[in-house]
Amino acid sequence: MARNLAENNKNEDIKLKQGIIRNLLKEKNAVLLAHNYQRGEIQEIADFQGDSLELSIKANKTEADIIVFAGVRFMAESAAIMNPEKIVILPNGGAGCPMVDMITPEDILNLKEEYPGSPVVAYVNTSAKCKAVSDICCTSANAVKVVNSLPAKRVIMVPDKNLGSYVQRYTIKEIINWPGFCPPHQRTTPENIKTLKKRFPDSVFVAHPESSPETINVADHVSSTSGMYKFVKESRAKYFIIGTERGIIYKMEKENPGKVFISSNPGLVCPNMKRTHLEDIIDSLSNLKNVIKIPEEIRLKARRAIENMLAL
Ligand code: 13P
Ligand code: SF4
Repeated sequence: MARNLAENNKNEDIKLKQGIIRNLLKEKNAVLLAHNYQRGEIQEIADFQGDSLELSIKANKTEADIIVFAGVRFMAESAAIMNPEKIVILPNGGAGCPMVDMITPEDILNLKEEYPGSPVVAYVNTSAKCKAVSDICCTSANAVKVVNSLPAKRVIMVPDKNLGSYVQRYTIKEIINWPGFCPPHQRTTPENIKTLKKRFPDSVFVAHPESSPETINVADHVSSTSGMYKFVKESRAKYFIIGTERGIIYKMEKENPGKVFISSNPGLVCPNMKRTHLEDIIDSLSNLKNVIKIPEEIRLKARRAIENMLAL
């Protein structure tokens, strides 16, 4: 009884905050973009939800004056790089991505020196400074297409070694890989999948390209986060083992009644994606806090790399 009361109060509180945010967004001509890993209560009120590529495209097309980016820093930075006339807010300024910090612009310049003439493909999970010294960006949704579009036999891919080896399966080009990785995605192992498949023999395992090659080897389907939504919707299977951040399961369950979604590993949580709460959105939008600022010289160079990707 007391538990039900506490639950009701919590739901009322969420609804109240969601209402405040929707009013603020309207009042300030702002748009709320949310990555597929965000908390359910944020996904519910977002103007648009998507994977990194879809969110970049959406940020480019919006007529709003303010973009509130519920995601991690590199995503909000990409929006700011492409939209200097708009205010881009990262509601929780501490929401970073450890993979981004695994490479520096100097590392990229050294790679260029070591492999002269080889273009650099930077995963969007990089800093603006790293993008500024790269030739083209990619996301997990378009990495194979981006690499295959380049007129070079050898391509440098940074910073995710797993995305690089995933792309290597689909290209005859030589990929020069950097040893970066996403810590949460490494928690899913082939052993996890073996155990889960024993419990759910008819299940389908869906993996993200940030997973290790060994995990990708046992996957039934590999795609970006939005690619996963499409796959599970179209599939006739009932049980799905989801090999990416658990936040994605919220919408999967909502959109697919009757289907069962099992997280590949209870530890597959991105703490940075979970840093953003409704309160952060209210505070940052009311007070125009955590506005992303990128020095113009870096912005212009980084923009070229993102534009090259979007042109595809
Ligand atoms: P997606 O582009 O597939 O949404 O992935 C972003 C990300 O950070 C995955 O960890
Ligand atoms: Fe970075 Fe991994 Fe979190 Fe994506 S899931 S934001 S790659 S730490």
